[in-house]
Amino acid sequence: MDKYTIQTLAIKAKLCWPNVDNSLRERIFLQELLLSPKTHADPTAWNTAWAQLLSQYAVTNLDWDLIPYHYKQPAIYARFYGDYSLTGSELVVYDLWQELRNHVFQMYLKNTPEVHEYGCGSGLNLLTLARQFPGKKLVGYDVSPAAITTVKLIAERHPEINLQGEQYSFIDGFPSNDTKPRLAIPFKNHAVLTCGALEQVGNRWQSFLNLVMWQQPSICVHVEPLLELYDETLLFDWLAARYHRGRGYLEGFLPAIRQLEKDGRAEIITCDRTYFGNVHNEGFSILVWKPK
Ligand SMILES: C[S@@+](CC[C@H](N)C(=O)[O-])C[C@H]1O[C@@H](n2cnc3c(N)ncnc32)[C@H](O)[C@@H]1O
Repeated sequence: MDKYTIQTLAIKAKLCWPNVDNSLRERIFLQELLLSPKTHADPTAWNTAWAQLLSQYAVTNLDWDLIPYHYKQPAIYARFYGDYSLTGSELVVYDLWQELRNHVFQMYLKNTPEVHEYGCGSGLNLLTLARQFPGKKLVGYDVSPAAITTVKLIAERHPEINLQGEQYSFIDGFPSNDTKPRLAIPFKNHAVLTCGALEQVGNRWQSFLNLVMWQQPSICVHVEPLLELYDETLLFDWLAARYHRGRGYLEGFLPAIRQLEKDGRAEIITCDRTYFGNVHNEGFSILVWKPK
């Protein structure tokens, strides 16, 4: 990552965890090996989860209730810089993601007047961005109607920010170059953001890439698990790659962007493995690029 490593960000966030000892590491290896991760790419399940979050946030109006539920699962261990760490608190992964998010937004989204987040979920990334850089036009897209209702509720409750929500699916948003969709909100020359959202589509990202290549945003920022960055000759990485494949997470997107760069149709600005995630995999690798 430019300028900072995940270690320096952890220190900045005052997060400090011991690595596990050998016997604990072996136990985690075994636990991970015995796991049978199942694909979860189910928009209906996401909608149910976001509807639950919405019912809570509608009553409380607390930012806390916009934090996605998966960050609130107990996390005794985390993957941190090539080993497992003993974290001992529930929100550690979210705490470090918060620090990383601020850093990534500062590095790559500071100067773009509009940011379009695809797979925005509860809208918390956009609310964070609005507070970090007041005055931006922000649009959140998601397949889940409940997520979009939440984004609209945030906009209603924060009239000082310029935030919109639109329903959209990565899978069939733009199936072929011959049939360009009617785009409610174009994003040419603006920024596109995804955070743990493209992860959901496995190898079905082509429709989204078509849309991006057609619209030509000024920058695309993805914080996603990137399978191709693991070194699968190492057990630690191999286990994460196995989990990633079992879950049906994003595959082939990075090679496609690398190919576009070879063909002179894209420029990769940065591609960083951050070496951090929950015990199973690293969900926060960073790919920043722009179409040409
Ligand atoms: C892990 S959540 C991430 C949410 C948000 N970006 C964040 O950082 O909290 C994945 C999101 O992708 C959305 N999603 C899943 N499949 C999708 C699809 N086919 N098209 C658009 N969004 C999708 C889900 O509804 C969910 O909001």
